[in-house]
Order: sequence, then structure tokens, then C-alpha cells
Amino acid sequence: MSLASFLKKLSVPFFTGGFMIAGTSALGLCTVYTDAAIIALVGGGFLARELIGYAKYNGKEKLNGKTVVITGCNTGIGFETAKDLAQRGARIIMACRDMERCEAAASKIKDIVNSNNVICKKLDLSSFESIRAFCDEFNRTEARLDILINNAGVMMCPRMLTKDGLEMQLGTNHFGHFLLTNLLLDKLKASRPSRIVAVSSRAHTRTQGINFDDINSEKSYEKMTAYSQSKLANILHVKELTRRLEGTGVTAYALHPGVVATELPRHIALANNPIILFLTAPLRYILLKTPLEGAQTTLACALNPAWETISGKYYSDCKEKEPSLPAQDAEAAKRLWDVSVEITEGKRTFKTSA
Ligand SMILES: NC(=O)c1ccc[n+]([C@@H]2O[C@H](COP(=O)([O-])OP(=O)(O)OC[C@H]3O[C@@H](n4cnc5c(N)ncnc54)[C@H](OP(=O)(O)O)[C@@H]3O)[C@@H](O)[C@H]2O)c1
Repeated sequence: MSLASFLKKLSVPFFTGGFMIAGTSALGLCTVYTDAAIIALVGGGFLARELIGYAKYNGKEKLNGKTVVITGCNTGIGFETAKDLAQRGARIIMACRDMERCEAAASKIKDIVNSNNVICKKLDLSSFESIRAFCDEFNRTEARLDILINNAGVMMCPRMLTKDGLEMQLGTNHFGHFLLTNLLLDKLKASRPSRIVAVSSRAHTRTQGINFDDINSEKSYEKMTAYSQSKLANILHVKELTRRLEGTGVTAYALHPGVVATELPRHIALANNPIILFLTAPLRYILLKTPLEGAQTTLACALNPAWETISGKYYSDCKEKEPSLPAQDAEAAKRLWDVSVEITEGKRTFKTSA
């Protein structure tokens, strides 16, 4: 552990301890017993975190000569994934929508890896035009694609539309990645054995199936439901990819990264309230994974040699896990594929303003 991350870990319990000491002193209760209780609490916080012991991917695979595309990797889980894979020698294409943030993240990785193989490319998954432009250039200029990591995500935003008139969460998290994957498939097939990794979520269990009757949430919109639908769609996409790619040497994986302290709740007012953040700091420290811990299952899906021929499964904490029943529905996976083709090929269009 680096000094900086050690100090960061230390700061929360110390801060909490200080807060409690101040409180108890003010009440005239700062006896030797309360001090002991505080030490026990702070130590307990540390211990609880160590005991939870989040799963770590320990594989030592090297990726020299391999190319990886990671979407939305200027921050959060994607950034830690990119950093790890760059350290293994891969050529990393950081596919991000905000080039300033992407360049800043790439330079942090280059500081550690000292490599010219960390490259920023513009990709806005809420625009089919942007996805097509990214893939056109990638297919023209890159020799191979060994691992595609569909990581980018937006969660619980108010009802917003993509450039193509799609509800933002299903539009970005599923339809954007669907088009991206299809346009990169030939390169993946030519680079076999190759992998497609979809960062889904346990949130997929909160919905009973894809709402094909209102695929664009035009009749009703509920932000958590829309997120759950998009994460269910990620797993169904992997399921149908597996069926279609059988025998090609391209395998597909879906995963839940855990509950991770990232920028994902940026649209949830409560999660960004400074008072709530202050009061919940110790609990968040214990219960939330760090982005590095959150990246471990993605790394396992991208790298684990034992899973090279196993396609279409769902993973959590670096282990296979059974997804919800709706996520195992082969008919729904096929139907979603057909609808996704219609939409991404422009055979079915939506109004681009509300
Ligand atoms: N954090 C959790 O607890 C958790 C739990 C389960 C699943 N997940 C999944 O994990 C994945 C990574 O999320 P995270 O937690 O690391 O969140 P994050 O820190 O918010 O990172 C999300 C990334 O996606 C990018 N992105 C959003 N919309 C995009 C678009 N239209 N085009 C291109 N990139 C876009 C963001 O770019 P900008 O910086 O430009 O916005 C950012 O780089 C997501 O798929 C999420 O659903 C996270």
C-alpha cells in the first residue's frame, strides 16, 4: 500500500475519532472509558474492513502485444482497470467522451507505466454518430482487438435523451455498447481468442424483464427502473453474444463490480449532500469498495485463463454467480438483440426532443 493510500485510509477513522472525542469532551464525558471505546471503534472500523476482505484478482498474466478498448475509463472502476492492464503491457485505448478528463487520466497512468501505449480516443456512447466515427478509425488504424471492456455507465439521471432520441440510461449503457460491440466484432474475431466484458450490476435483479412495450420509457419513466433495465440488458446482450459467437473464439462475460465509491451517483442529490457524506464517512469507508477493489472482477473476466473458453456467465467478487431469472431468459435475449439491431441501424427511430 502506498503512503498516500495508507494516509487516506487512516484519515476517515481519525476524523471520526476526533469528532467523537470533541463530542464527548463537550459533554464532560471524556473519561478513560470513552477514550477506550473510541479506540475500539476506530480499530474496529479498520478490522471490519480487513475482515470483509474484498476479493482480489491475483493472476499475473502479461498482455504485451495485446490491445484493449475500455469505455468510460477516465475515472472510477474503468480507470483502475485501464491502469492495471497498462501495467501488464497492453496497448490501452481509453474510449471516453470528455477528452480533457481522458488526457488527465492517461497521463496519470503514463506516470506509472511509462508507455506510449496508452491512447485517448473520443467516444460518446450517447451518440451513434460518435460510436461509428470511433469504430471507423479503430478498424482502419488498429491491427487487433483482444479485449473489449464495456464499462461506461450512467445511473439514475432524470429522463434525458441521447442524440438519437433514446432514453439516456438504456441508450448509453446498452444501445451504445451494443452498436460499439457489433462494429468491433470482426476485429475481435480476427484476434481470437478474444473477450468482451460487460460491466453490469446487481441492480439488474430489481426488474422483472425488459419492458419491450415501452422500450424507450415514453409511457412512464422511473430512474432506478431504467438503470436496472439497462443493466439487465447488459447481461442479456452477453447471453445472446455467446450464442451467436459460438466457435469463433470470442467469449463474453457480464459482471457486478460490487458497491464501489465512484462518481456513479452523480445524479443522486442525497449521495452528494456534504452533510450526509460527512455523517456516513465511516460507514462508507467500511462498506464501499474502492475503485481498485471494484475493478477486480472486471480484471478476472478479462484475464483469467481458466475462463478462456467459458462464455456467457455472470460474475461477482471474482466468482461465477447466478443472475436473476429474467437475466437467464434466452427468448428475451434474442428479442432484445433484434430490437437493438432495428434501433442501432435506424430502422426504428425516436423523437430527438421531449
Ligand atoms: N460504482 C458502483 O457501485 C457500481 C455498481 C454496479 C455497477 N457499476 C457499473 O460500473 C461501471 C463503471 O461505473 P463507475 O462506478 O466507475 O462510475 P463513474 O465513476 O461514474 O464512471 C463512469 C464512466 O462512464 C463514462 N460515461 C458516462 N456516460 C458516457 C457516455 N455517454 N459516453 C462515454 N462515456 C460515458 C463517464 O465519463 P464522464 O467522466 O465523462 O462522465 C465515466 O468515465 C458502470 O457501468 C456502472 O453501471 C458500478
